[in-house]
Amino acid sequence: MDSQVKRIGVLTSGGDAPGMNAAVRAVVRSATSQGIECVGIRRGWSGLINSDFVRMDSSSVSHIINKGGTILYTARSMEFMQPEGREKAIATCKLLGLNGIVTIGGDGTFRGALALSRQVAEKGQKLDVVGIPATIDNDIGCSHYTIGFDTACNTALECIDKLRDTMQSHERCSVVEVMGRHAGYLALYVGIAVGATAVLIPERQLDFERDVVEKIRRARLAGTTHYMVVAAEGSGSAYEIAQRIHEELGIDPRVTVLGHIQRGGAPTARDRETASRMGFEAVKTLVEGKGNRIIATLDGRIVDLDMEEALAMQKSFEMDRYTILESLTNSGK
Ligand code: F6P
Repeated sequence: MDSQVKRIGVLTSGGDAPGMNAAVRAVVRSATSQGIECVGIRRGWSGLINSDFVRMDSSSVSHIINKGGTILYTARSMEFMQPEGREKAIATCKLLGLNGIVTIGGDGTFRGALALSRQVAEKGQKLDVVGIPATIDNDIGCSHYTIGFDTACNTALECIDKLRDTMQSHERCSVVEVMGRHAGYLALYVGIAVGATAVLIPERQLDFERDVVEKIRRARLAGTTHYMVVAAEGSGSAYEIAQRIHEELGIDPRVTVLGHIQRGGAPTARDRETASRMGFEAVKTLVEGKGNRIIATLDGRIVDLDMEEALAMQKSFEMDRYTILESLTNSGK
C-alpha cells in the first residue's frame, strides 16, 4: 500500500507501566520498516507543547524491550487540557510535519489525543491519533487487558509471598496495600494468586464485619495462625484497616504499602508480547488511514476501535472472579 503517512510521533503519558518501552520499540520498528519516519515526543503531551522531541530510528529502540519505565519519559500536562496549550502542540505537529501520533497511556492520555485531533480538524486539517492502553490498573473500559498489569501483579505477588514467610513465622496478620486508586483489578488478581484471607476493592462497598473480621475469624477457626489482607489503594487507608482489625479482633497487624515499586521492573513475557502486537497494530491502523482509534484486546485478539466510542465504554467488574475469591477465602484455609 502506498501510504500517505510519512512521519509519525510517539509518546508515553500518564503513570508509567512496564511494557511501555516494548510498545515504543514496536511502533518505531514497524514504522521505519515501512519507510515512515518516527519522532519520539518526550514527557507526554508537554513535550508536544514545548517542542521536546527526538528523532528515532530502529537503533534508538535497541535493548529496551526488557526495560521497565519509559525511555521517552512521562508526565501529566495540565496545560494540554486547555485549548491554548493544544494550540502550541498543534504548532509543533506542523513544524514536525506529523501525519499521526501514537499515544501510549491511559484514559486521560486518549482524551487528550481526541481533543487534539478535533482541534486540528476545526482548522480543516487532519492529524490521526491512535491510543495504546498501558496502565498497571487494567481499568480501560474498551480493552480487556492493558500493558503493565501482568508485571505489576507479579511484582506484588513476589513481595506478598515474602511477607507471608515472616507473617507465618510470627503468626501475624499482614495488611498489604496494592495500587489502584479507582480500580481493584490488581488487588483482585493478586488476592486470588496469593490466597489472601481477605481482599478489599473500591468497586465493592466495604462491610468491615463481613469482609474482614468474619474472614479472619473463619481462618482462625480453621486453624490458620497468620492472615493476609490485601487492600486496593482506593478501598481505604491500610493503616486504618489495620487499626480496626486491632480493635475488633485484638490482633496487631503489620502494614505494608507496596506503592510505586509495582510500576517498575522488567516487563513480563505477556506485557512485552502484548505491547509488541499493539505497537505493530497502531502503525498499521495509521497506514490504513483510519483516524482516531484505540488498539484494544478482546478475548486475546488485538482489535482497533473508534476512539470516541471506546472512551465511552465502561469495564464491567469481573464479578465471576470476585465470586471465586469469595468462595476460596471463605473456606478459612
Ligand atoms: O498508574 C496508575 C496508578 O498506579 C494508580 O493506581 C495510582 O493511584 C496512581 O497511578 C498514582 O500515580 P502517581 O503517584 O504517579 O500520581
